[in-house]
Amino acid sequence: MKTFKHHIPTKVVFGRKTFLKIREEIQSLKLNTQSIAIVCGKSAIRNEYIDYIKKQLPIVEVFDGVPQDPSVETAKEFKKKIASVNPTLIIAIGGGSVLDLSKVVAGALTNEGEIEEFIGIPECFNNPTIPIVAVPTTSGSGSEVTPYAVLTNKVEWKKAPVISSYIFPVLSINDPELTISMPQHITANTGIDALTHCIEAFVSKRATSISKLYSMEGIKLIRKYLPKAYGNPKDIEAREKVMLGSLLGGMAITDAGAGLVHTLAHILGVIYDVPHGLAIAMFLVPVLKFYGLAAEKEIVEIGEVFGIKTENTETVLSEIETFLKFLGKPDNLSFFGVSEQDIGNFVSIAMAKRFLMGNLPKIPTEKDIRVIVKNLINSP
Ligand SMILES: [Fe+2]
Repeated sequence: MKTFKHHIPTKVVFGRKTFLKIREEIQSLKLNTQSIAIVCGKSAIRNEYIDYIKKQLPIVEVFDGVPQDPSVETAKEFKKKIASVNPTLIIAIGGGSVLDLSKVVAGALTNEGEIEEFIGIPECFNNPTIPIVAVPTTSGSGSEVTPYAVLTNKVEWKKAPVISSYIFPVLSINDPELTISMPQHITANTGIDALTHCIEAFVSKRATSISKLYSMEGIKLIRKYLPKAYGNPKDIEAREKVMLGSLLGGMAITDAGAGLVHTLAHILGVIYDVPHGLAIAMFLVPVLKFYGLAAEKEIVEIGEVFGIKTENTETVLSEIETFLKFLGKPDNLSFFGVSEQDIGNFVSIAMAKRFLMGNLPKIPTEKDIRVIVKNLINSP
């Protein structure tokens, strides 16, 4: 058996109504609550989660208005504002954007340097961050249990990853009741992101005996319950299972990394302003098709979890495509205004990240990227 490391230092609390125990959970870790900064988007305020925390933990300052896919500039603004209250603890409550921005700010507050200087550097922080409590209100990013955060670099039009084991949240409270209010399209997009974390980690060369278990169970849960949560937002059992799938997806990519689907989706996301999960949906099947024989065994295993017993990877991929289409995936990239003239952007940006592709089952050439994108522009 391959040797591996497994390091997820986050205390995970999972289940219905666990959010109501946030104060007890924070106390159980003896976290310093002298000055708490809450970071959130609009929905956490609208749904009165912030009011609840304020009643439980009175010494708080709220920093709301985190936008979708926050930029480096936005993170710098938040850093400046949050620094003014000298926080001893940051509670991040929201979707992946809120969690990621909070993780970057928590690290930037205790480390010398501008946020730009931390981007793309493995283990970029030398000092521990302000402790982070992550409370996801979507089921997708897995950020509540990863050492990753992704910002958008609007100057160079690329995604800006921040990677450090110091940015694992100390506590993550996963209460599926907080995901009930997610609109249908966000349920679909975030769920597809979670599914893709499981799949990309599963086919990764860095997959381990533990990450494979996370991936398999995550795929199984999302396959069965995401369509139910999509069809009936109030189906709490479905919400719960998808949230668990998302958590497992986060753990899987922590161990095994994501892959080419994420690389290409990030480009689509930044340049064409496509939400992360939707961009992911576009590339999942084309990238698996590109891996082909190099990931044949894994794709067949994914098929089994999807409920298809076949050795034929094409059959598995068409089943995954049907699943994505049911969840509202558009047919092709023309839908977002991508044309053949734009292929060069995908090729050059993806190739610049080739150094990150060591864990892929098959490393793409320029021509491979060109073919994947071209086929997807007008595919039926
Ligand atoms: Fe993702």
